[in-house]
Amino acid sequence: MSLIEEINKRRTFAIISHPDAGKTTLTEKLLLYGGAIHEAGSVTARKNQRKSTSDWMELERKRGISITSTVLQFQYNGYNINLLDTPGHEDFSEDTYRILTAVDAVIMVIDGAKGIEAQTKKLFQVCSQRNIPIFTFINKLDRPIKEPLSLLDEIEKVLGIGTFCVNWALGSGTDFRGIYDRLSKQVYLFEKVSGGIYKAPVSIHSIEDEFVKNILGENLYPIILEELQILDIAGENFNIAEVEKGKITPVFFGSAYNNFGVQLLLDYFLKYSLPPGPHYTEKGKLINPDYEKFSGFIFKIQANMDPKHRDRIAFLRVCSGKFTRNMIVNHFGSGKKIRLSSAHSVLGQQRETLEEAYPGDIVGLISNGNLSIGDTLTEDNEIIYNEIPQFAPEIFFIVSNPNPSNYKPFKDGIEQLLQEGVVQAFELMFNYEGNTLLGAVGQLQFEVFQYRLKNEYNSESTLTPTNWSLLRWIINDVKEEKLNQKSLPIGAALGKDRKGRFVILFPSKWSLDNFLEKKSDFKLSEVPK
Ligand code: G4P
Repeated sequence: MSLIEEINKRRTFAIISHPDAGKTTLTEKLLLYGGAIHEAGSVTARKNQRKSTSDWMELERKRGISITSTVLQFQYNGYNINLLDTPGHEDFSEDTYRILTAVDAVIMVIDGAKGIEAQTKKLFQVCSQRNIPIFTFINKLDRPIKEPLSLLDEIEKVLGIGTFCVNWALGSGTDFRGIYDRLSKQVYLFEKVSGGIYKAPVSIHSIEDEFVKNILGENLYPIILEELQILDIAGENFNIAEVEKGKITPVFFGSAYNNFGVQLLLDYFLKYSLPPGPHYTEKGKLINPDYEKFSGFIFKIQANMDPKHRDRIAFLRVCSGKFTRNMIVNHFGSGKKIRLSSAHSVLGQQRETLEEAYPGDIVGLISNGNLSIGDTLTEDNEIIYNEIPQFAPEIFFIVSNPNPSNYKPFKDGIEQLLQEGVVQAFELMFNYEGNTLLGAVGQLQFEVFQYRLKNEYNSESTLTPTNWSLLRWIINDVKEEKLNQKSLPIGAALGKDRKGRFVILFPSKWSLDNFLEKKSDFKLSEVPK
C-alpha cells in the first residue's frame, strides 16, 4: 500500500466532555462497535473496580476518575483508528491541551439534560483555537433531555459554532423512540437492551411507515415532522468544508449506555472526518503527511504505566513519512541521532511491538529519560515542530523534602515528574533564593505529583502554599542590574524556569497591571518565548 493510501485510512481523534456526560461510556462503546473489545463492562461494575481498558493508574481507580490519557488503537471497516482519551476531571490539566495537539478531530459529548457545561466549553475553546473539526454527540436520550432545538441554540450561542443535525431525537426519557437519520432519511427505532454489554439490535424504517407512526403515537409524530421541517428550513446545510474548518459541528443524538446511535456516529464520523493533515514547523514551513521523510513529535510521557515494567513511555504522533522500528532519527532535544528500537502500540496496559507506523499513528517509545515532551524526532533535521503549548500556571506551591536523608529518590522523582510535565518548576531568586516553586493550572496536578512521588519513588514531599496567583515570562532582554527585588511590586518574586528563562510571580492581577504600567521596559508574556 502506498504512503498516501496508508494516510487516507487513518483517523486520529479524542473525545471531550464535562465529567459524567458519558465520555468513558462512549469510548467503550466505540471500542465495542469498532471490534476492539467484544463485551462492554457496565459502568456500574467499573465504578467499583475501574477496570475500563483506559484506566491504569491506581490513583485513578481510587478516585474513580481518569487522570492520565490513553491511546486506543483499533481497526474498523478499513480504517486504522487512534482514539486518544483526554483526562476527564473537572480540574483542568495541561495534559489535556497536549493531547489535543496530537489529534485531527474531536467528538464532543454533551449530556442532553445538562447542555453545555463548564468543562465542555473550556475544551471546546482549545479545539476551536486549533480549528479542529468537532463532531457532537448529545447523550442520554433515554432520560428526559432539554428541548433538542434549544440544545442546538445553546451550542450555537454558548460555543459560537454552527450546527448541522445529522440525526434527530425521536422523543426522550420514557418517550424515547429512536432517531431519524436526516442523511439517509431513515428512522432507527430504539430497543432497550439490558446493560448495553453487546451491540444493540437495530430496526430501520421509513418515517412514512405506519408502524413508525404508531410507535411515535399521535402526539409525538406531528411534533417530530414539524421539527424536521424547521431543521430543513432554518438549519445549516451540510457543508463538509465548513465542518473541516471547525465552523459547523455535525450533531448526533443517542444513548451511549444503551449503545444507541453509536454505530451511526462512528460510521459518519469516519466518513466525514479528515485523514491526517499537514503540520507547520517552528519556522512556519508546511510539512505534508506524504512527505517521504519521517517526522513526529512527543506529546506525552508516562512513567511507570505498568508497575510490572517500571519504565516510561513517550507517546509520539507521526506527522510525515513512514516510521519503522529500529530506524535512526535525529532527536532535536539532544541534537543526537537515536535508534528507535522499542516501539509499541498500546491498549490500556497491554502493549505490542510495533514494526511500522504512518502519519496519524501514535507510537509508544520506551524512553530511558532522554525524550521530553515537545521533542521532534525526524529523518530531516530541518524539521522542528513546536506544537506543545506551555501555559502560565495559576496555582503555586513551594516544594520541600521533609526527609533530607532520602535526598536521591526525592530528586530523581521530581526530575522524572517534571520531565513528564506533571507540574512545572521554577527556581526562586532574591528573598526566596534556594526554594523550588511548583506551578500548575489545576489543583489535581499537585495531588498527582505528591501521590506519584510517594508511590513510585517512595518519597514524601511538603507543599507550602504561596500568595502568588499569576506568573509571567519576561520576554525581552532586561539588563541584569534591573532584575532585583526592589524593581518588583510588594509581594512579587523573580525566578527562572528550567530553561533559565526569567519569570515574575505576582500576588494579584492588580499588582501585575500596576507593574506593567510603571515598568514599560519589561515585556511580559503568558507563554515563554
Ligand atoms: P464521563 O467519562 O464523561 O465522566 O462519564 P461516564 O461514561 O463515566 O458516565 C457517567 C454516568 O453517566 C454513568 O453513570 C453512566 O452510566 C451514565 N451514562 C452514560 N451514558 C448514558 C446514557 O446514555 N444514558 C444514561 N441514562 N446514563 C448514561 P453513573 O451513575 O456514574 O454510574 P451507573 O451507576 O449509572 O453505572
